[in-house]
Amino acid sequence: MGRRALRKIDPELDLSRHFHELPENESAWTPLEIFSCTQPLELEIGSGKGLFLRNAAEACAEHNFVGIEVAGKYAKFAAAGLARSGLKNACMLHGDARRLVQHFMEKSSVHRVHIYFPDPWWKARHHKRRIMAAEFLRQVERILVPSGRLVFWTDVEAYFQESLEILSQATTLRGPIAVPENAPAHDLDYRTHFERKKRKEQAKIFRAEFEKPSVDANQNDREDVNSRPAVNREPKYFASTGPLSVERRV
Ligand SMILES: C[S@@+](CC[C@H](N)C(=O)[O-])C[C@H]1O[C@@H](n2cnc3c(N)ncnc32)[C@H](O)[C@@H]1O
Repeated sequence: MGRRALRKIDPELDLSRHFHELPENESAWTPLEIFSCTQPLELEIGSGKGLFLRNAAEACAEHNFVGIEVAGKYAKFAAAGLARSGLKNACMLHGDARRLVQHFMEKSSVHRVHIYFPDPWWKARHHKRRIMAAEFLRQVERILVPSGRLVFWTDVEAYFQESLEILSQATTLRGPIAVPENAPAHDLDYRTHFERKKRKEQAKIFRAEFEKPSVDANQNDREDVNSRPAVNREPKYFASTGPLSVERRV
């Protein structure tokens, strides 16, 4: 992905609380150890510049948020945003989300997994690099708590449709549950930087959520999730945050 240079991070800014390298060896470490208090965990895969993580953590202090980003400069940039905001319930990991999910996350430990605008890897021969692949999505299902949700948005219709197919074949996650589009209340009132960019280009965004069945779900008496009306039961990540200050611009 061609990317513009990022603003420089203030070298005086202390990132020790908000930036962590994913350990090399698959030890007993878990991201839960980063936080001083135990509360529901949300995980964002491929956080980019970190707009979602910062807004969500500000709006929902009663959850912990971990973002993981494979591009080191972006992981640090997102961590710097969290540090400047003094957020105690959010941090960034630098590393590969696939390693994190497979080797470091416990079963039924995450309330929501967020995947916004994953790289589409346009060429057919590169499709195998896509994050929305069967093995990864089975791992996502494993780490979600019962009734936990996967949130997936993209602007690439073909990738969206293929992902729906993989999810229905490789997992028991129920969906797609449609998510309505909201009119932005201000210039940074978007889920992520990428959503902002694409909506300004008038691109169509495909948004869906998928729910892990609850432990006692009666397999023979499943609701037809596709017939459900569009819902938006997620925490209001943006409503309470208001416009961001100039210092915290894109
Ligand atoms: C198109 S960008 C979207 C960034 C952000 N989610 C947004 O919507 O603004 C995709 C991001 O996923 C990151 N990424 C790709 N593969 C990854 C992986 N295996 N683990 C963690 N991050 C990954 C990329 O470095 C990039 O920052």
